[in-house]
Amino acid sequence: MTVILEAVHVSKSFPRRGGVLRRQLGAVQAVERVSLALGTGESLGLVGESGSGKTTLAKLFIGLLRPTEGEVLVRGASWFRLRGGERLAARRTVQFVFQDPMNSLNPRMTVEEALSEPLSIHRLAAGASRRARVDALLELVRLSTSYRRRLPRELSGGERQRVGIARALAVEPAALICDEPIASLDVSVGAQILELLRALCRERRLALLFISHDLRAVASLCRRIAVMREGKLLELAPTEQIVNRPGHPYTTLLLRSAELDLDQA
Ligand SMILES: Nc1ncnc2c1ncn2[C@@H]1O[C@H](COP(=O)(O)OP(=O)(O)OP(=O)(O)O)[C@@H](O)[C@H]1O
Ligand SMILES: [Mg+2]
Repeated sequence: MTVILEAVHVSKSFPRRGGVLRRQLGAVQAVERVSLALGTGESLGLVGESGSGKTTLAKLFIGLLRPTEGEVLVRGASWFRLRGGERLAARRTVQFVFQDPMNSLNPRMTVEEALSEPLSIHRLAAGASRRARVDALLELVRLSTSYRRRLPRELSGGERQRVGIARALAVEPAALICDEPIASLDVSVGAQILELLRALCRERRLALLFISHDLRAVASLCRRIAVMREGKLLELAPTEQIVNRPGHPYTTLLLRSAELDLDQA
């Protein structure tokens, strides 16, 4: 297994501001000395209560935030040492899907334009071959080609999320970071998205970091689970072990609240 993404003792703190003048009152330690690696074809779930640092860690992984300490490596190279073409290549390697695709899709771009844009930025296809790639992407996320000319506001939440996933997959990334990708979807559409992600890990050897409040979804999709609390990585172990022999009382609490045991997972 090749390591695609690695966090090495990564910390991120934000200034804490307060009062009418928003003066700085110390710092929030959102992520604290987290180390973890993600390899080809691997599915890693990340769980933890609200505010535990999951989204901050996701943003560090995609190079959107700069760590206060430590570093994030993409195929062994630190995000913030990459320049120009190397950085563009890293962007292609690591793609992401956030909870609300309404924020990540340009409201004035049709589905076809949204899916063509990454192909042209990364010079992957043009003309007829680009159109064929767009059709293949729509098919991959199970949308008919009649969706090509629709705008984001003309799509349902589930359809928008599929377009978001298709756009992330357009550049054939080696790793996909998903932050609550199914939280805003109904159960059946959410289940279809999980099935798609599962197939991508298995068939295309995609490395997946899947962040979710839904421990049941995480356990059904991911081979390993990482538990975060107050910015720290509490434990990281194979799903079977987390579910049957949690190593931390906090994990037991999360499992209880999800009423999860292996029979159901
Ligand atoms: N840009 C920022 N400026 C200041 N504080 C921030 C910023 N982003 C996040 N934080 C703080 O960092 C901590 C972790 O936030 P984060 O969004 O990573 O949590 P989360 O685990 O994703 O929570 P949720 O499950 O609610 O999405 C929180 O205390 C949050 O208030
Ligand atoms: Mg979050």
